[in-house]
Amino acid sequence: MARKIILDVDTGTDDAVAVMLAALHPALDLVGCTTVNGNIRVESCTDNTLRVLDHIGRSSIPVYEGLTRPIARVDFPIPRGEKDHSGKYHPDTLPIPPPTSRKQDAGAIEFLIEMFRAATEEIVLVPVGPLTNIATALLLDPKFAKRVPEIVIMGGGHELGNVTPSAEFNVWADPEAAAMVFAAGFEKITLVPLDATHRALITQAQCEELEALGTSAGQAAAAFIGHRIVVHDTHQRQDVPHSTPVHDALAVGAVIDPSLIVTRKLHVAVETDGPLTVGRTVIDTHFRGGKAPNAEVAFDADASRFFDLLLRTFAAKA
Ligand code: BDR
Ligand code: CA
Repeated sequence: MARKIILDVDTGTDDAVAVMLAALHPALDLVGCTTVNGNIRVESCTDNTLRVLDHIGRSSIPVYEGLTRPIARVDFPIPRGEKDHSGKYHPDTLPIPPPTSRKQDAGAIEFLIEMFRAATEEIVLVPVGPLTNIATALLLDPKFAKRVPEIVIMGGGHELGNVTPSAEFNVWADPEAAAMVFAAGFEKITLVPLDATHRALITQAQCEELEALGTSAGQAAAAFIGHRIVVHDTHQRQDVPHSTPVHDALAVGAVIDPSLIVTRKLHVAVETDGPLTVGRTVIDTHFRGGKAPNAEVAFDADASRFFDLLLRTFAAKA
């Protein structure tokens, strides 16, 4: 039986690939997407999510719009759409036709709380944007953490930052929310940080294979990943020439096939104060803090099996 999953996204090119993977892989049943302010404004994230689902023939998957700003930071620069978090050009709108379907009337937080309250089967929660919606659900429903059997988060970094030398974007963008999530007592947290996503790079040649599939999903994935390669080549060159991480899709891949990532059980906390380190995931790799591990943290990933997963999933006709 397919595993139920909810994706919390700030769609975005790599979120878009994650949405397609979750919506199309037969081992998953994507019961809904929630959107959150992040790389771009939440309205644009919602529009992009709807257009991706329409484009691949999955308009029946509901989309719930979430919060417009972080839970605590009044000074957070709410994105205006011209730039991504590295200050590079980042169009708001994905290059596929506008949506014909509409977002749901209910909001993301209401949906998350009600889905997990009423669930009779396990639902995996997969946040791949700032953790604002999830922290708010924790605030409003004191039992929320206990109701979620597994949460797989794309965020953070141990060796690597991408928005500052210390911090990864999703955690940095709402550090108080992320700190709450790691301290909430979730039964099972899997963290897929930059350390793992940068081990699963997709190359330009692989993009051409996706394009050659001739399916809506294959061609859209090629366009989204191709755009990422251009941006990374220009501003954040990877060790493998003409390649890019597709962060959020790896988190979904790890739900489908946990052996795609290599994890260690460690304690993770989030820095919310340090002027140089705000938004850093402090991962206690040498057990110096004396706190019990609270997350399975991925440090490696199998790049070629990850690509095969994308290729096989996007090959299927919608
Ligand atoms: C994360 O930040 C966003 O730009 C991406 O979608 C991904 O979720 C990577 O740091
Ligand atoms: Ca994202």
